[in-house]
Amino acid sequence: MLKKILFLVLTIIYWFWLSIILGYNIKNPELKWDWNQLETQNFIFPENFIWGIATSAHQVEGNNLNNNWYLFENQIKKNNIPNIYNGDRSGLASNHWNLYDKDIQLMKKLGVDHYRFSIEWSKIEPEQGVFDYTIIDHYQKKIDALINNKITPVITLHHFTNPIWFEEKGAFEKSENIKYFVDFSSFAFKQFSSSVLFWCTINEPMVYVYEGYFNGVFPPAKKDPVLAIKVLKNMLNAHVLVYKRLKTMTNGNKVKIGMVKNIFQFDPLNRLNILDWYMSSLLNDIFTNEPINFFKNGRSSFFMPGFVNDQIVNDDAKSSLDFIGLNYYSRFHVKGKINLSEPFIFKTRKQDIQTDMNYPMYPEGIYKALKTIDKLNVPIYITENGIADSTDSNRAIFINQYLYSTNKALREGVDVKGYFYWSLMDNFEWAKGYSMKFGLYEVDFKTQERKLRDGSKSLINIIKRSKNKIQIK
Ligand code: BGC
Repeated sequence: MLKKILFLVLTIIYWFWLSIILGYNIKNPELKWDWNQLETQNFIFPENFIWGIATSAHQVEGNNLNNNWYLFENQIKKNNIPNIYNGDRSGLASNHWNLYDKDIQLMKKLGVDHYRFSIEWSKIEPEQGVFDYTIIDHYQKKIDALINNKITPVITLHHFTNPIWFEEKGAFEKSENIKYFVDFSSFAFKQFSSSVLFWCTINEPMVYVYEGYFNGVFPPAKKDPVLAIKVLKNMLNAHVLVYKRLKTMTNGNKVKIGMVKNIFQFDPLNRLNILDWYMSSLLNDIFTNEPINFFKNGRSSFFMPGFVNDQIVNDDAKSSLDFIGLNYYSRFHVKGKINLSEPFIFKTRKQDIQTDMNYPMYPEGIYKALKTIDKLNVPIYITENGIADSTDSNRAIFINQYLYSTNKALREGVDVKGYFYWSLMDNFEWAKGYSMKFGLYEVDFKTQERKLRDGSKSLINIIKRSKNKIQIK
């Protein structure tokens, strides 16, 4: 009798497990193509497809001495280890501040026609309400130089850095601080919107929040999930308010304004493990699906057992995007844990080709991400995509395969209008310092010389053959 009951219980558990696992697997099939069977040397993009490269101020300009990152780079952790890998500091970075003219020539050699860069808030508004017109003048000269070279400027208003005065007020931790960012944005818009028609409000709010308030590797290096969601809320609302304000200003109806969303997929490490599935689906919701819901329906909910249970509602969010910027790099494999203080970890898998960052190459992922973000029904620009590859052994394959996937999504009807490669040249990779080599051009940081990497030629070729409509049969 006891044996029979035990058998029955085990059978019920088994069927329960099987139906859940089947459900997860059917809903989220593993996307993996056989690259040996695919023709990846032949695809071309439409003539009007936009080709660009991207950088951000703090990573390339040099001499940013007045923002939260400058402070962070000069602090050490409790265990005496520097905040930045190897004790690096951004310092002179790639000296793009002084070398932008030369850099524009490097862009031209690539064949790109757009340049996405951020303007440094802490330089423009070094103290609250005090604006530095010599800096405005410098950025205007750079914008003019781009236009004279037939490269369209694309401005990002916030790319991870805050002026020290804003950080001291609590930055985006407090909703009452949003107004400072809106004021800065409208000031910058007034200065540049007659020559710049393409604007990104905030770069990757989710990454800023995850790294700064959950992982603790970006300033302010907190580990507080409840605060993290509050900051995310304020940043998303800040985007909406900036969008609304800029649209009412002169040139507001001529320009395109959007936000930049990073998508990293979270996949279960073991596709037969319910906990791995559960944690990865919670992470996909928090990181991607719920922020998308915010723009689609004006509301999103954030839930992680033991950590957060929160909601955002903002009806204006639904009409606050002329486009969406997609930054895509890779995915993470999640191992769920029965441990409330650390409910998951990320693991690498032997079968994957690793980049120099802690994630693998996953070209199919950009196709998936495009399909996901397409749910917003607004034009999409890939505002960042690139690989850290110090030996330059995978860059060419990376570019070919990620662009093949992008091309496939486009041919299937996804409204992707352009692609910006990250990055023009090696630069300061945040907490990883100068150890990561994302540049199409290699930079010798002693001499500031730039040299085209071999692997970058595959991007040049794809742009060339698309512009000249050359399809090799
Ligand atoms: C950021 C860049 C960064 C790049 C590579 C993106 O998340 O916007 O600033 O350098 O990823 O890690």
